[in-house]
Amino acid sequence: MKTSFLLIFTSLLFQIIGLSIITASSNVTCIQRERRSLLVFKQTLTDTSNLLSTWSGVECCHWQGIGCDRLNGHVVKLDLRSLNFSRRLVGKLSPSLQNLKHLRYLDLSVNQFSGSIPEFMGSFKHLEYLNLTHSGLSGVVPHHLGNLSRLQYLDLSHGPLMDDLDRRISYGYDIGAPRPVIDDLGWVSSLRSLRHLDLSYMSLEHIDWFHPINMLPSLLTLNLASCDVNIPSVKVVNFTSLNSLDLSSNLINSTIPVWLSNLTGLMHLNFELNHFHGKIPDFMGMFSALASIDLSTNSFETLMPDTLFNLSSLIHMDLSGNKFSGPIPVNLGLLLRLEDLALGDNQLSGNITLSLGELSKLKTLDLSENSLVGVLSQTHFTKLKNLNCLMLSDNSLALNFSSRWRAPFQLQVLYASSVNIGPQFPKWLQTQTNLQRLDLSNSGISDTIPEWFENILSHILDLDLSYNHIGGKLPRFHFKSSAQILDGISLKLNSNKFEGSLANFPENLLILDLSDNLLSGHVPQTDGAMSPSLQVVNLSKNRFTGNIPVHLCNVLSIQLLDLSQNKFSGRLPGCLGNLTNLQVINLANNTITGVVPSSLGSLIQLNSLHLHNNRIEGGIPLSLQNLTRLVTMDLGKNMLMCDIPFWIGEKLSDLRILNLESNKFTGKIPLQLCKLHALQYLSLAHNNIIGTIPHCFGNLSGMITSSNWITFGSMQTYDENILVSTKGRQQSYTRTVLRFFISIDLSNNNIVGELPDALMYLLGLKSLNLSGNLLKGHIPVIIGNLKQLESLDLSMNNLSGRIPQSLGSLTFLSYLNLSFNDLYGRVPAGNQLQTLDDPTIYEGNNGLCGPPVLRSCNEDDVRDNHVGKNEGQDDTEDLWFYTGMGPGFFVGFVGLLGSLHFITRWRLVYFGTLENVYSWLTLSILLNLAVVVTIVNMGELEILLEFIKVITINVVNGGWLKR
Ligand SMILES: *[C@@H]1O[C@H](CO)[C@@H](O)[C@H](O)[C@H]1NC(C)=O
Ligand SMILES: *[C@@H]1O[C@H](CO)[C@@H](O)[C@H](O)[C@H]1NC(C)=O
Ligand SMILES: *[C@@H]1O[C@H](CO)[C@@H](O)[C@H](O)[C@H]1NC(C)=O
Ligand SMILES: *[C@@H]1O[C@H](CO)[C@@H](O)[C@H](O)[C@H]1NC(C)=O
Repeated sequence: MKTSFLLIFTSLLFQIIGLSIITASSNVTCIQRERRSLLVFKQTLTDTSNLLSTWSGVECCHWQGIGCDRLNGHVVKLDLRSLNFSRRLVGKLSPSLQNLKHLRYLDLSVNQFSGSIPEFMGSFKHLEYLNLTHSGLSGVVPHHLGNLSRLQYLDLSHGPLMDDLDRRISYGYDIGAPRPVIDDLGWVSSLRSLRHLDLSYMSLEHIDWFHPINMLPSLLTLNLASCDVNIPSVKVVNFTSLNSLDLSSNLINSTIPVWLSNLTGLMHLNFELNHFHGKIPDFMGMFSALASIDLSTNSFETLMPDTLFNLSSLIHMDLSGNKFSGPIPVNLGLLLRLEDLALGDNQLSGNITLSLGELSKLKTLDLSENSLVGVLSQTHFTKLKNLNCLMLSDNSLALNFSSRWRAPFQLQVLYASSVNIGPQFPKWLQTQTNLQRLDLSNSGISDTIPEWFENILSHILDLDLSYNHIGGKLPRFHFKSSAQILDGISLKLNSNKFEGSLANFPENLLILDLSDNLLSGHVPQTDGAMSPSLQVVNLSKNRFTGNIPVHLCNVLSIQLLDLSQNKFSGRLPGCLGNLTNLQVINLANNTITGVVPSSLGSLIQLNSLHLHNNRIEGGIPLSLQNLTRLVTMDLGKNMLMCDIPFWIGEKLSDLRILNLESNKFTGKIPLQLCKLHALQYLSLAHNNIIGTIPHCFGNLSGMITSSNWITFGSMQTYDENILVSTKGRQQSYTRTVLRFFISIDLSNNNIVGELPDALMYLLGLKSLNLSGNLLKGHIPVIIGNLKQLESLDLSMNNLSGRIPQSLGSLTFLSYLNLSFNDLYGRVPAGNQLQTLDDPTIYEGNNGLCGPPVLRSCNEDDVRDNHVGKNEGQDDTEDLWFYTGMGPGFFVGFVGLLGSLHFITRWRLVYFGTLENVYSWLTLSILLNLAVVVTIVNMGELEILLEFIKVITINVVNGGWLKR
């Protein structure tokens, strides 16, 4: 529509301006004074593309871009518009131009002139047309332009330029290029002849545009798109002749203004990309000339406006991206001129009116992303012979066309994702010989691909058949049409039941997604003519065999390579290091052997490295420390054998997911890992790690609160995915879950020492697994801090002491394993622990008693005189017990106190240096006293006495201080 509008407009323009201007075949001799001025002007310019090559000889009226008056021979037209930014004039505008006193038409658009807009332009008193779009001129627009009383067309716009296909193109257009600025628009009010004013993409913020423009009663076209303008709250306006109004992209937050009702001649209205809301006023039903209306991407929340469906002149209607609700009005069938109808991304409901079938001119129909229901049949499309683009995705619609139906239209685009089309492959598509973009994903097809589909494949640019049950062999791919070679193809056949082998590796691809099928055999070599722009290769979840296809190493554009969950074998090829644009490489779950090649250190864009579950041996090469953008490193389940490299902590500072489990890693946990501030998933399980759990784990701030995940560069479609062990089983977690999943798994190593309290300040932890180590000591009572904990496994260690009561306050805890330790005493009851009543949780701890453990408690179990008991620890536990009874802020205090006690860094902040212990001690006592006061208020004297005893022990022996 936009194009056709422009065409009409341009031809109109020629009729108006061209009439009295001679053509090149006439033979009026040019005026020599003007000829010399033009030559001087030419001399000051650099014309590398020889645009002005015809500018020589005496007959200047015949020069390129020059037009002279038929009668008197004066130069009246200077059109220097370049069609292309790479072919433009560069340099200053010579003042000699002001000698062209008779100019009526001046177009300097799309050039690289320098300096500001000359004031002498205000002296061209015959000027009717002035176009300075992207002319390169800058500075404040001179108010002298207000002298151009005959000016009809003024274009100062600086928006993106469109190419023939209505695509925004830049061809060298530089957003930061010099452009004029407007400081005031008062001068516009004297342009009494102005009919066309385009100031789009010029900032008019805080500038009064309305009053000057309101003085122009003959204005026909007003374009203020993307000008940061607001609209006046007046009721009447002067510019009632307006037939085209564009206020798009201004973030205007308003209802539709009342003054719009004055513009009864309106043909073209664009309010796209604002915050217009409220009702569509009834007066819009009177805009009988309205040909084009765009209200898309606003905040309308009403029923679908019937008024607009009475405007029988409409050619283009875009209401998408609002919250219009209700059914599509039956009157739709009356809009017989309609060519484009976009109602997508609203909340439309109900069936689609059969009157749709009347719209014989309709080219584009977008109904996607609504709540429309019912079956679309042939009747809906009876007369739609011009339909070219049909978008129905994401509704509860079904398509039911007879298999013999010959569609009256030739589609170029069909988007019908999640529309019920199956179970058969839609036969009617056979007649669609121009199809370029086809999305039938998740449409219930469980057929094979028919042979005729190869015709469609020969011109397709974008094919998505994913999430169906399509079986049989893959079609043959011959992507060699000129459009395919030029634009590249996106091919998504993932999540189907395709079987057999991949006969040829398709060429000219941008995206290849064959994941989650039953494909087998070797991945074929290519004949070298592979698309140089291939970005995504996803062959995961198939049965491919053979070596990793090394010919892919030559396709340097690849950003995502996912070969996971296949049967690839052979060594990990070093040539993968060539793919320096890789952001994601996933080779997990194959049987790849050999070592990690140090060439992988060249993949400096890499965000995600998955080698999980292969047979890779050796160490982690030092070169991987160059992968500083790594977010995920999953090397689990291999045969890697070395100390855990300390540089992981120093160099890979964006790391969120580090999985080294089930290898043969040795040595201690390097303290440098504590520097990974984004780390939220750490698994070192099933290795031969020794030493203790570092206290500095308390510094892993990514485990305290969850922070935002970055999207992987251009890989927004990539869904990060790892196999997670939690709650006693393994599950695959994708990004949606992963981003909130905070976990430490150190199980099944030889880790010694006590469970550091520091771990208990990783408040975001959802899963903690330390089972199968040699940990001793008590379970810290402050384990109650870990309020997010869902899974806790401390089984098979040498932990002793009583089970802290505070475990019961972990309201999300749904998996607990404390078996095979030396815990004793009564199993705490209450709160969350009530639901964890499986006795195996506690088995192998002979000292435990009370339900759910079968042994009932006796005197000894209840009294605190168990052999080997640690006084201080258990008294602190009592403190926790009391907190259960105390009011909320008590818990808060103890929480802060606890934090200060245990997290060295915070303590340093609060107390300056550690030497300043005295104030530290004082604060401790004060805080404890505050607690005491609270309890006294409650009148629980007995508890108070017990409590004072606890505090005295703590303060006197300085037990908390030593930590
Ligand atoms: C103009 O050109 C036409 C032919 O194109 C010729 O007949 C006529 O004599 C010319 N007039 C002058 C003034 O040169
Ligand atoms: C001004 O020039 C630009 C670019 O050359 C063109 O797209 C636009 O239509 C012109 N404006 C008018 C009012 O003709
Ligand atoms: C409307 O235009 C006329 C003349 O062009 C002018 O005198 C008058 O002030 C304008 N009205 C408003 C409200 O600006
Ligand atoms: C629009 O304005 C209203 C009232 O001033 C305000 O509540 C609302 O948040 C605004 N909407 C937007 C998107 O700015």
